[in-house]
Amino acid sequence: MTINRQSPEQNGPLKFPPNFVWGSATAAYQIEGAIAEDGRKPSIWDTFSAIPGKVLNGDTGEIACDHYHRYPEDVALMKMLNLGAYRFSIAWPRIVPDGRGAVNQQGLDFYDRLTDKLLEAGIQPYATLYHWDLPQALEDRGGWTNRETAEAYAEYADVVSRRLGDRISSYTTFNEPWCSAVLGYGLGIHAPGKQDRAAQVAATHHLLLAHGLAVPILRRNAPKAEVGITLNLWSFDPASDSAADRQAAEEGYDLDNRAYLDPLFRGKYPETYLNALAPDETIPVQAGDLETMKAPIDFLGINYYIRHVRQAVPGIPGGQDVYPPGIYTTMDWEVYPPGLYDLLVRLNNEYQIRKIYITENGSSGEEGPDEKGEVHDALRLYYLQEHLTQAHRAIQQGVPLAGYFAWSLMDNYEWAWGYTRRFGIVYVDYETQQRIIKDSGHWYARVAASNALPDYRVIYP
Ligand code: FCB
Repeated sequence: MTINRQSPEQNGPLKFPPNFVWGSATAAYQIEGAIAEDGRKPSIWDTFSAIPGKVLNGDTGEIACDHYHRYPEDVALMKMLNLGAYRFSIAWPRIVPDGRGAVNQQGLDFYDRLTDKLLEAGIQPYATLYHWDLPQALEDRGGWTNRETAEAYAEYADVVSRRLGDRISSYTTFNEPWCSAVLGYGLGIHAPGKQDRAAQVAATHHLLLAHGLAVPILRRNAPKAEVGITLNLWSFDPASDSAADRQAAEEGYDLDNRAYLDPLFRGKYPETYLNALAPDETIPVQAGDLETMKAPIDFLGINYYIRHVRQAVPGIPGGQDVYPPGIYTTMDWEVYPPGLYDLLVRLNNEYQIRKIYITENGSSGEEGPDEKGEVHDALRLYYLQEHLTQAHRAIQQGVPLAGYFAWSLMDNYEWAWGYTRRFGIVYVDYETQQRIIKDSGHWYARVAASNALPDYRVIYP
């Protein structure tokens, strides 16, 4: 690790606004384990991960980081990292194991205990209600392609928020509906593993509808909590300056970003999205749905990892990705921090967004402990530093950015990649369940404590 203390571009620490929220994020299926405990029933990820060939090495979330049992130790870790907030997700299959109907009190008890532990430690709980673990019972009836799932989701949101109320600082209805719809129902690389474009279109609609149905319920049950949604968004750059490439990049932005942003903030799907639908891909819209989806929210959460660079292909709206030279992580994701700035500024110009959080941002990297038991994850540290620098730039430009959550608090189950990709600022030894704060975690703890990026820069490589 090289530390340049005479950084030419920086004089003194980069200070963030007062009350800026410094957090870290996880998701239930990725860390909890305990899949058959205290009344939990299977989710689509239990089913999907059990199918040979779907997940690398056949890995499942059966044990994961055993957080279900080790949450007190994990909250203590968060405290050592000086986190002001913790973004976690609540597992629907623990709360309403059959998707609809009977409520499992033991499932609620777990999140009740976790919430209390966090509050005791002075860490604000940011709860996401859906991070991809749909109860299998609902998938058996069509999952997100079935409108009933949106109604079931609203009931589930009601149950959770009645119990946890505004002890939760912030409710996020959904994490990345694009991934649920496109990866889950369109491309089949995530649970439930369907490859059906028409199903993807229906799922998109019902996910956004479920969000809109839940917003007033959460407001009623938790009047002091804020309510929002998290989208995975990209910045889009053209591969060249040609008009065709520039158009492909714009279409890509419309198809992947605006297809979610416009229903949420404008109550309509973008033209590019509507025009790209095949005759059998009909949006199952009913009277009032678009109005429901645009229920005003307090914040938009953004998960940013990479940009897209697009080259035009005749007949394919959005063109195709090209991969410029640069630094790539072990996910083969390009490290492109200015994309975060571009995205934030554009969003702020185009939509009336009250408040933005970066709810995920981070890098994979598989370093383990050295002989001294230290984990030197230079690329992750560099990644965080550079993205936070861009976030700071965006704030200077007037973007209402209120907080940042590093993905992830600890190494965990990386979906179709199983345990082969590590995103944690804390290392997890899956054999012993020992946790070790990585270099990036020590650095992040200093940033969180001082509410500023230090006056030196880490150079990579
Ligand atoms: C996001 C997911 C999160 C994690 C990161 C790497 O799409 O929300 O659970 O897998 O990617």
